[in-house]
Amino acid sequence: MKLNSYSKKSAKRDLLELTDLSPDEFNRIFRLTSQLKKKPFQQNLKNKVMGLIFTKSSTRTRVSFEVGIAHLGGKSLFLSPNDIQLGRGETFEDTARVLSRYLNGIIIRTYSHQEVQTLAEFSSIPIINGLTDEAHPCQVLTDLFTIHEKFKTVKNKKIVFFGDCKNNMAHSWLLGASLSGCHLVLSGHPEYKPSSVLWERAQQLAEKHKSVLEWIEDPQEAAKNADVLYTDVWTSMGQEAESIKRKKDLAPWQINSRLMNLASKNAVFMHCLPAHRGEEVTPDVFESKQSIVFDQAENRLHVQKAIMSLFVS
Ligand code: CP
Ligand code: NVA
Repeated sequence: MKLNSYSKKSAKRDLLELTDLSPDEFNRIFRLTSQLKKKPFQQNLKNKVMGLIFTKSSTRTRVSFEVGIAHLGGKSLFLSPNDIQLGRGETFEDTARVLSRYLNGIIIRTYSHQEVQTLAEFSSIPIINGLTDEAHPCQVLTDLFTIHEKFKTVKNKKIVFFGDCKNNMAHSWLLGASLSGCHLVLSGHPEYKPSSVLWERAQQLAEKHKSVLEWIEDPQEAAKNADVLYTDVWTSMGQEAESIKRKKDLAPWQINSRLMNLASKNAVFMHCLPAHRGEEVTPDVFESKQSIVFDQAENRLHVQKAIMSLFVS
């Protein structure tokens, strides 16, 4: 039997992946982010209640969303699946339709991207993806804002993503860079390439928005003249059983000082965190002056406040 879905009847917007935003909206979010950074305490979410459904661990995403909601005069409810009936098998379709009657928006972090799409389809309120196995849009939007802050533009900046190029971060980077006019290079072991379906989708966007996407397997070649050297953990949440193989396969793509020295002289090191020092990055690079990882982490707060201000009404 066909279930009633609400989203088609409402004008609400969801942020499930970065293609849900246009390049103009990226700029609108960045302008508002800069304003909110200067004047953090506003009432954009006054009388609004946001739910956070997290089935995976989180430090930055959970805390920056909850703090951001408080700064904007709203309230947050942390909904662990162990506490709500979702954890006992209530469907995403029913959860969506019930929570839409109480809340003004939901931030969700979980494994399956499909479940988040279902939540969005059956909700009449905005759904914001706080990370799935496929995408981490809030992080990459923040990273683009942070690059913009450092270099005054993201256009034509050479950003090299090293390591696991088929994880959620690499996927969101492919879409985010394609929409932003950047030069994104992915560099990793050939077994860790993004799917050809995603690559082609990103290439089409890149052509439209004058962005450049490249796969360069050799890490030294990839790092040459880069503006940003970026990495993420080699083993994402849920992949722990593959950890030993991943460490062995991806070792040549570790960001170390030799690789940093091949980049442009003003290059920065970025990482979405949490980091595993000695694996994807050496401790000296992580702690170096070129490392802007904590600026990135801080900016999650400001960018997400801008996203909620525009999406939640
Ligand atoms: N970068 C990021 O999303 O961090 P958390 O897993 O701590 O939320
Ligand atoms: N790729 C990582 C990102 C963590 C923010 C993971 O999914 O675990």
